[in-house]
Amino acid sequence: MMKNSQGPESEPTPAVEPAVYSQLKSMAETKNLYLQKVTWVHHWTHGLFSFRIERPPSLRFRSGEFVMIGLQVDGQPLLRAYSIVTPNWEEHLEFFSVKVKQGPLTSRLQHLEVGDYILISKKPVGTLVVDALKPGKRLFMVATGTGLAPFLSVLRDPETHKRFEEIIITHTVREEEELAYREFLEAEIHDDEILGEWIKDRFTYYPTVTTGEFRTKGRITNRIRSGDFAADIHLTDNRFDPETDRVMVCGSLAFNREMATMLVEHGLVEGHNNDPGTFVVERAFVG
Ligand SMILES: Cc1cc2nc3c(=O)[nH]c(=O)nc-3n(C[C@H](O)[C@H](O)[C@H](O)COP(=O)(O)OP(=O)(O)OC[C@H]3O[C@@H](n4cnc5c(N)ncnc54)[C@H](O)[C@@H]3O)c2cc1C
Ligand SMILES: NC(=O)c1ccc[n+]([C@@H]2O[C@H](COP(=O)([O-])OP(=O)(O)OC[C@H]3O[C@@H](n4cnc5c(N)ncnc54)[C@H](OP(=O)(O)O)[C@@H]3O)[C@@H](O)[C@H]2O)c1
Repeated sequence: MMKNSQGPESEPTPAVEPAVYSQLKSMAETKNLYLQKVTWVHHWTHGLFSFRIERPPSLRFRSGEFVMIGLQVDGQPLLRAYSIVTPNWEEHLEFFSVKVKQGPLTSRLQHLEVGDYILISKKPVGTLVVDALKPGKRLFMVATGTGLAPFLSVLRDPETHKRFEEIIITHTVREEEELAYREFLEAEIHDDEILGEWIKDRFTYYPTVTTGEFRTKGRITNRIRSGDFAADIHLTDNRFDPETDRVMVCGSLAFNREMATMLVEHGLVEGHNNDPGTFVVERAFVG
């Protein structure tokens, strides 16, 4: 699953020195963190990459949740929130990351290689989970940038397909090359023996690009308001229906606010883990 043909993969490198590993392990134990080995790295663009780590056998999570992950810097853990890309049944954990030049974590994390180690918190959390939504017919997952990450997890959970008849994922990015996971969402998913059967005629991937030419150009918010989105995917209305539609939103603060305002105008109500609603929102980053 999720083969990648859009860039070089890392060559396996020797594991870290035993002395370095035992120091890391002892720090992780002191801080109540897992220490897991990197097994795969893929760079999509100069600003985006994905990587996998071995899954701690005792880690349980709901598809769509996030964890704190990071590296040791100056003897201390430097951790940031990251959505888990993989569904809860997968044997490994995958993450989709931005590379911020001056970012305390990602200026370092972008140099990860197979065999390196990642610190990971023990308690996944989050609201982009089907449990925070009331039953419905259509599930829309609306993302910008790395906000796609939790939806890749939710999409591959069988529970999602039990609860919803139709699933739509939108992904808005500035440049076309930032449409990470596009091949998977457009083609590979349909070829997957199990997933392909679940999503047959029931899944729509709707990418939009805000800079340069693209068949579905512009912000998803504008395309929803203009009716272009509804027309493109053959919906009968360009408003969400609170009776049947459920929406998950993940992007920048400005995007989340704009989407939430629109959804409330359409009669939807924000849900939480202890109080399910008709839409849920989570930030893809702070700032
Ligand atoms: C709930 C939650 C889930 C998150 N999940 C992910 C994830 O799956 N993948 C991911 O890459 N990041 C994710 N983030 C952001 C992540 O926690 C860090 O901010 C990011 O890794 C950058 O860390 P840093 O230390 O390099 O820079 P920071 O000091 O954390 O950020 C510096 C600046 O970079 C920009 N920035 C940070 N993250 C992003 C981003 N993802 N996309 C665009 N611009 C960004 C912002 O302007 C921010 O102010 C998530 C954040 C939250 C709150
Ligand atoms: N993505 C990367 O590869 C990358 C790498 C390193 C650093 N950064 C920096 O990180 C910051 C965030 O970059 P980003 O591109 O990942 O995230 P972003 O600013 O959230 O933009 C992602 C997409 O969301 C759209 N968008 C933004 N606000 C919106 C709103 N209110 N409603 C609807 N759509 C909205 C943007 O459209 P518009 O184009 O119309 O704004 C863009 O297509 C920037 O300062 C960037 O320079 C990004």
